[in-house]
Amino acid sequence: MTTQAPAEPLLQAFSDFLAQRIGLYFPPGRWPDMLHGLARAAPAFGFSTPEPCLRWLMSSELSRQQVEILASQLSVGETYFFREPAIFAALEKEILPPLIAARRTAGRQLRIWSAGCCTGEEPYSLAILLTRLIPDLADWSLSILGTDINPDFLAKAKHGLYSEWSFRAAPAWLKAQCFETPKADRYALVPRFKRLVNFDYLNLAEDAYPSVINNTNDVDIILCRNVLMYFEASAAAAVARKLHRSLVDGGYLIVSPTETSATIFPQFTTQPFPDAIVYRKTEAPSSPPAPPVVRAEAAPAHVVATAPPRLPLPETPPYDAALAAYAQGDYERVAALLVEQAGGDPLALALLARASANQGRLADAHRWCEAAVAADKVNPSLRYLLASVLDEQGLAAPAVTALKQALYLDQNFILAHYALGNLYRRLDNPTLAHRHFTHARKLLRQLPSGATLPDAEGLSAGRLGEIIDASEGLS
Ligand SMILES: C[S@@+](CC[C@H](N)C(=O)[O-])C[C@H]1O[C@@H](n2cnc3c(N)ncnc32)[C@H](O)[C@@H]1O
Repeated sequence: MTTQAPAEPLLQAFSDFLAQRIGLYFPPGRWPDMLHGLARAAPAFGFSTPEPCLRWLMSSELSRQQVEILASQLSVGETYFFREPAIFAALEKEILPPLIAARRTAGRQLRIWSAGCCTGEEPYSLAILLTRLIPDLADWSLSILGTDINPDFLAKAKHGLYSEWSFRAAPAWLKAQCFETPKADRYALVPRFKRLVNFDYLNLAEDAYPSVINNTNDVDIILCRNVLMYFEASAAAAVARKLHRSLVDGGYLIVSPTETSATIFPQFTTQPFPDAIVYRKTEAPSSPPAPPVVRAEAAPAHVVATAPPRLPLPETPPYDAALAAYAQGDYERVAALLVEQAGGDPLALALLARASANQGRLADAHRWCEAAVAADKVNPSLRYLLASVLDEQGLAAPAVTALKQALYLDQNFILAHYALGNLYRRLDNPTLAHRHFTHARKLLRQLPSGATLPDAEGLSAGRLGEIIDASEGLS
């Protein structure tokens, strides 16, 4: 039986729907691919033909599981170790050495994010490279995060088992030095490299980032290669804006050479390397020079002015202007607007703390948080913010205290339970970790799945529940 393809307007509507929910762009020339993917996904949604499935999908909010099913069939999963050698050469010779030298005397911390990591070859290549460049890696706090929308890819990445095809452009030493002896033509990554990378689900088109919750804040280097080329232009530009905010000042965004675009990445400066271009987040560009002031000649006294006097425009209050600057990731402007004005205003102090933390200035962030807490001692959100900064500073015990204080002030503070669960897990206390995760889950069940959580940077109740389930091995 042949199934008739859905009519053009329906295909266009579905293509728009995918661009919005997943970011993926299917222009008319790629509709056959879109339909094939949909036909493969339809049985998982209980349909035998694409058209009713397509109508049904567009008629409701998609759950994460449904997005995953669609993404599994529609996304392109091409990747391999040390892909685009020029980029890895730039990382090895130009980008990482000065960064490592600077961090060696300032906290020994590095955060790398492979966004759209597919089956893991990219973040593992970074882990291997960093191991070669940092001989005392055990004394460093290194975070390498790999995220993707496709759960099958993530499962394979976590497994760390690869076939010959993943090595098609790899340097000769790679297999011998970093993989175990192959069994049945499969190469298993040696555990000491595998341990360096954490994998998580993240939909670049929809999920919240930067966020301390999913480790996507204060990142030094983001690789988002061969991902945005499949995105619709406005969705790609929206991702670029958010990735910009996820970086520390001076941080790098690396896309594939074919993806560089002045319209999609206007907020970055470009830095050329031999055969590679990378983007850099530099200080906020200074505002364009003001147009020359044309001074009206002073009117002679006898001339009667005909135009009514202009009323002064109301000025935006500094806190509101700072909030707008924060939303655009212009943290320097937040400081310029508020440092002199904040006084004892806890909201302004908290915004200064967030802006400093997002720039990686943790000592300043800590100072602003303490001031905010002193200004409003019964505000649990401020204690939570303080705990996040303390945790970023590697001060786990004071972070636990601040979270307990937040929970003392509001025992139903879901995010504080979640953060405390994470901290206890890291402090090797699985019993207390589980207790707080369970409590968070119980509170989340009382909320509609789409409800946005306070202090959670846009994260929904349903999504946090999924994150907790995944971290406790329940999904
Ligand atoms: C071609 S692979 C690139 C892998 C790797 N970055 C590289 O360059 O070798 C593209 C990856 O982007 C992922 N992807 C597509 N849409 C995504 C989205 N909305 N959020 C996160 N990942 C997405 C796909 O699942 C796929 O794994």
